[in-house]
Amino acid sequence: MKPTTVSSRGSPQGGGRTLKLERIADVRADDARRYPTGIGELDRALGGGPVAGGVILLGGDPGIGKSTLMMQALAALAHRGHRALYLTGEESAAQVALRTRRIGGEAIESVQLLATNSLEDAEVAIMQVEPDVVVVDSIQTVRAEELSSPMGSVGQLREATSRLIDLAKRRHIAMFLIGHITKEGTIAGPKVLEHLVDTVLSFEGDRSHAFRLIRASKNRFGPAQEVGVFEMVREGLREVPDPSALFLAERPRNASGSVVSATAEGTRPLLVEVQALVAPAVYGSARRVASGFDQHRLAILLAVLERKCGLQIGDHDVFASLAGGMRVDERAVDLALAVAIASSFRNQPSPADLVIFGEVGLAGEVRSVPRASQRVLEAKKLGFSTIVMPLLSTEQLSDYERDGVRILPARTLEEAIDLALG
Ligand code: TYD
Ligand code: MG
Repeated sequence: MKPTTVSSRGSPQGGGRTLKLERIADVRADDARRYPTGIGELDRALGGGPVAGGVILLGGDPGIGKSTLMMQALAALAHRGHRALYLTGEESAAQVALRTRRIGGEAIESVQLLATNSLEDAEVAIMQVEPDVVVVDSIQTVRAEELSSPMGSVGQLREATSRLIDLAKRRHIAMFLIGHITKEGTIAGPKVLEHLVDTVLSFEGDRSHAFRLIRASKNRFGPAQEVGVFEMVREGLREVPDPSALFLAERPRNASGSVVSATAEGTRPLLVEVQALVAPAVYGSARRVASGFDQHRLAILLAVLERKCGLQIGDHDVFASLAGGMRVDERAVDLALAVAIASSFRNQPSPADLVIFGEVGLAGEVRSVPRASQRVLEAKKLGFSTIVMPLLSTEQLSDYERDGVRILPARTLEEAIDLALG
């Protein structure tokens, strides 16, 4: 049979090219060089600190504190002997210096600063300073001079990001790119930015509250979904190593509609206060407003409450929020949210020493959640004595975790409501 001819590109000889392949076992997986900042909450979100050659996209609403956080991080790294460069296209050098004075510290004075909107200038500055770590504030305010498209356009964003990443990789620089958030809550510009970088961090919080959450939604160099907590004070951002206490500080006692839940995003357990207010709808169709939760989740829980627990809630407005302007993505707050709604609807407070967590399924069943032990331990640490949780998750608990706390297993949402509201 005549052999089939293939083009040189697809030929087994690869057009004369020989590649050296390795067995996975022979590849040296040497740990990437990390630069811990010493700011524990930031390092935690990054899985230990920024990595040489790693590029981090930091997104967040305007005024949330991104520039402040980054300047503090650079100052901390400079203090540890690293060479740090801050490139700003947002503010003048004088404005940055003014903020820096507020933050204080001596190390901050050794951070190199350049105010520019030019990508070429940024590249030259990086080559000149030879920094270990660079902050670009913001990626939307640098533009490549040879591209005619305007600053902040998709073309400019791609160009600036890919050229800066290239520089970071070649020169083993840990690089932070600050990115604006659009009204829709995503980092402005194409999703492609998130694919290009190694790590995506978001800085969240409600501007009417002091605390801020930093969260990794993607991390090639560490666990994703890890969170760090800060508080904005006059001297900049202060770490909050024990956030549960802060989140519960203003919790009302014996008020209906307020329930404490234990979340665990990343590996960190956090206690939060879930609030619901149910009131007869006055104008036309009932309103359902969720802040800090997924709106769809609220709609699903209301349907389950109505169909499986007999709560006649259809003609009521329902407002649900996480106290303090928090935001939670995990299903483990379902049960607390549903109980808070029932508590407000029936005007029955739940006991002040009670914590509730679990996922609620469409059939009204309570489903197990990960990290039950950590949630229980956090609740105990904060002095809570009773926990309503999924039956299946109770099987993971050791005697030590059960010690000194009353564990009330729930199989259904209806059961959980009875346990919590009596
Ligand atoms: P900033 O870091 O400029 O936010 P971003 O870069 O995300 O836009 O911080 C903005 C707000 O933080 C500003 O309204 C003032 C406040 N702030 C403080 O409360 N304390 C401080 O020490 C600093 C530097 C800022
Ligand atoms: Mg800023």
